[in-house]
Amino acid sequence: MAGEWILTVTAQTPTNIAVIKYWGKRDESLILPVNDSISVTLDPEHLCTTTTVAVSPSFEQDRMWLNGEEISLSGGRFQSCLREIRARATDVENKEKGIKISKKDWEKLHLHIASFNNFPTAAGLASSAAGLACLVFALGKLMNVKEDHSQLSAIARQGSGSACRSLYGGFVKWIMGKEENGSDSLAVQLADEKHWDELVIIIAVVSSRQKETSSTSGMRESVETSLLLQHRAKEVVPKRILKMEEAIQNRDFASFAGLTCADSNQFHAVCLDTCPPIFYMNDTSHRIISCVEKWNRSEEAPQIAYTFDAGPNAVLIARNRKAASLLLQRLLYYFPPSADTNMNSYVLGDKSILKDAG
Ligand code: ADP
Ligand code: DP6
Ligand code: CO
Repeated sequence: MAGEWILTVTAQTPTNIAVIKYWGKRDESLILPVNDSISVTLDPEHLCTTTTVAVSPSFEQDRMWLNGEEISLSGGRFQSCLREIRARATDVENKEKGIKISKKDWEKLHLHIASFNNFPTAAGLASSAAGLACLVFALGKLMNVKEDHSQLSAIARQGSGSACRSLYGGFVKWIMGKEENGSDSLAVQLADEKHWDELVIIIAVVSSRQKETSSTSGMRESVETSLLLQHRAKEVVPKRILKMEEAIQNRDFASFAGLTCADSNQFHAVCLDTCPPIFYMNDTSHRIISCVEKWNRSEEAPQIAYTFDAGPNAVLIARNRKAASLLLQRLLYYFPPSADTNMNSYVLGDKSILKDAG
């Protein structure tokens, strides 16, 4: 391994949006949740993280840059991911560059990591999910880690809970698990991206500003103070998970939409039930909900599902392309790109459309 060389790996990982939300940990350091959750992974073309990891004997310490700015790697979460991946590193040989790294060398070698999100960071569009999943995936490739996706998901979980679900496409379930060491708290794919491909996801970025309360501290406060969270985790979510799995398998949009909207609303109710209350949605978010509810009721069957993560931005899931195009027309009419509604728009592609407040 001696000499001057550098070996790099670049990976790209999409974000995922939960339709049955994870909100609350039973173990803070291992990141073990109080309930199962289900998400849909977005099209990697549109909302994703790109991460390059590099190793060289000339690097003196592990360093990381996020969106061009250096960030600290000293936090427990980054350290957990680095430690878990390093522990599984195997021999790497690059004949072209004449590089041979043995399993033992990885303990001494340092890393430089550069990551970019092509969508707002820390604004409620699950940047931590795409970011930490991408980091673990890229490091695993660099160090020739032989674990399968579900094992990698359990490592990504220790970086950010929602990240474990970004290792798979399509519909994904994070099983909360029972073990105290977290070994069975990992993600499984419920259905791949082709299973229900008439769905169209539209993201309305109401504000790309960084949120005031991070997901991590928000859910910690909810666990400490919200009785509704306890009820939700024990009584509500287990039943919803079963119904949601059924709705996905049967491509039953009415049931899917009902469960998705109800779960988003209950998650935000838990935030309100937290002391002091946390407000992730704003007036524009509330207006979007009212409009979608009204449109759905004016049709024979629901056309649009909405869900909001820990931020004001709407994730709208249309039952098909026709419903999506009508939704877009209505959004542009009711929420024209102006200072008033705080929404500008630009079209990114036909599968997901990002509207940005700038
Ligand atoms: P979000 O709703 O965007 O997931 P969170 O509060 O959960 O917001 O997490 C935001 C944090 O996730 C950021 O402050 C940063 O620490 C981390 N993060 C976001 N993107 C990346 C990335 N690409 N690589 C590493 N960490 C990231
Ligand atoms: C509202 O995974 O960002 O997006 O585990 O503390 O990093 P940490 O939190 P994070 O929380 C996500 C919360 C959510 C719902 C979800 O993605 O299930
Ligand atoms: Co997050």
